[in-house]
Amino acid sequence: MRPSPLRMAFTLIEPGPVVLVTTRDGERNNIMTISWTMVVDFTPRFAITTGAWNYSFRALKRTRECVIAIPTADQLDEVVGIGTCSGADTDKFAKFGLTPMPGKLVAAPLIRECLANIECRVIDIVRKHDIVVLEGIAAHVAASPRERRTLHAVGDGTFVVDGRKLDRRRQMAAKVPAGARSCALRPPQVSCPTPGPRPFERGPSP
Ligand SMILES: Cc1cc2nc3c(=O)[nH]c(=O)nc-3n(C[C@H](O)[C@H](O)[C@H](O)COP(=O)(O)O)c2cc1C
Repeated sequence: MRPSPLRMAFTLIEPGPVVLVTTRDGERNNIMTISWTMVVDFTPRFAITTGAWNYSFRALKRTRECVIAIPTADQLDEVVGIGTCSGADTDKFAKFGLTPMPGKLVAAPLIRECLANIECRVIDIVRKHDIVVLEGIAAHVAASPRERRTLHAVGDGTFVVDGRKLDRRRQMAAKVPAGARSCALRPPQVSCPTPGPRPFERGPSP
């Protein structure tokens, strides 16, 4: 091990995938790029970091809803373009050739060209840390996506693309909720050939 600059430590654990967050304020649709995301627990609850420095934030605050859209690796140029211009003066759906689609429960649009879309309500805004807590209320996945690999931002302007998917569902069985055990969106490319030890298995109750 060698010392590493602490100010760059975030690049070691930068989460992914990079997402697009859509909002609709009055008559206007908008999109922003977000790499600071967090799954809060196994319920459909998420957190994103953003704030008043973005045009989208006023719509998030006012409408208290948005859509998290998941782009794929082939959409990197759109992802970066959307995150480097503002809805204050740009119609990003038109500029980046994306198609807004009506959601079921929120006015913010789904993005047809994305791998998946999650309709969300804002359930909290933690101003001290610019964290917006979202609750997913409906989810949609592309029926036959041509690309499934997602983008992961390192945080320094570079990105990593999903690689091989490895399957440890058997060993994780005690930790993964029943509904999450099969993932149709991104099926594993490598399955677990033999049952391994079950390190997280709960012991008998005391
Ligand atoms: C790859 C990438 C990741 C980004 N991640 C975030 C983020 O996590 N939080 C944030 O507030 N802004 C993030 N941004 C910046 C916003 O997307 C950017 O400020 C955008 O122009 C906001 O659009 P708006 O003014 O229309 O809301 C990111 C930009 C890029 C290119």
